[in-house]
Amino acid sequence: MSVWAVLAAAGRGERLGRLPDSAAGQSPAARANPDRPKAFVQLRGRPLLAESLERLEGSGWIDAIVVVAPPDWEEPVILLAEELGCGKVVAAVAGGASRAESVRIGVREVAEDAAVILVHDAARPLVSDEVIERLLAALNDGSDGAIPGLPLADTVKRVRDGAVVETLARDELTAVQTPQAFVASVLRDAVASGREATDCSALVELRGGIVRVVEGDARLLKVTTAADLALVESWLDADA
Ligand code: CTP
Ligand code: MG
Repeated sequence: MSVWAVLAAAGRGERLGRLPDSAAGQSPAARANPDRPKAFVQLRGRPLLAESLERLEGSGWIDAIVVVAPPDWEEPVILLAEELGCGKVVAAVAGGASRAESVRIGVREVAEDAAVILVHDAARPLVSDEVIERLLAALNDGSDGAIPGLPLADTVKRVRDGAVVETLARDELTAVQTPQAFVASVLRDAVASGREATDCSALVELRGGIVRVVEGDARLLKVTTAADLALVESWLDADA
């Protein structure tokens, strides 16, 4: 059974903005370069992408990796993969205008005989083998997809024009992360719809697919703001 990873790294990182000078690592000027897409901002002196790429490469569960790169950054992605000795990287392709489009482009590069496709956000650097193992176990139990989720700490309300419309039952809510794993044929069909969604599971759900939720990991935090980047960096520093 071959498992392919599609690493979505084509986003611009608009919300990351300029990084604080106090951030550790490279010179502040280099880190704060506004022309640098999020996958190439520095995390402990390396491009953010390096962390997830190296972890997927090192996973015994993953056979091949497709990186969806920011447009015009395919070459630096290939060079980074070579530098890190990531021999599982078979393609670096330019992404599209949205995450869904980028995933669609990446999935096209996956071999016909792949059994499972695992889609991961490069913006979540701390992917672990434990999570991947839980996802694949859930797929083996017969679901179309498996995704990591965590319970919410906050109460969530539906709000319209600044007024509360409804309070949602928190015990039914789950915050969902990546990596997300799918039976390859199911994901191919789902992305072919051309619809937009903020995760792949939503596209599979729309087609009636059965998606199981496994235990997620707080360390799979998505780096959105400069504060998130500093937090992930502090976790890595503590581990070092
Ligand atoms: N992504 C992508 N292609 C896009 C947009 C996003 O591959 N056109 C990827 C990002 O690289 C990221 C993941 O999808 O790994 C989640 O997106 P997000 O955290 O929103 O990253 P950005 O879109 O880069 O950030 P922002 O929304 O702040 O610009
Ligand atoms: Mg985005």
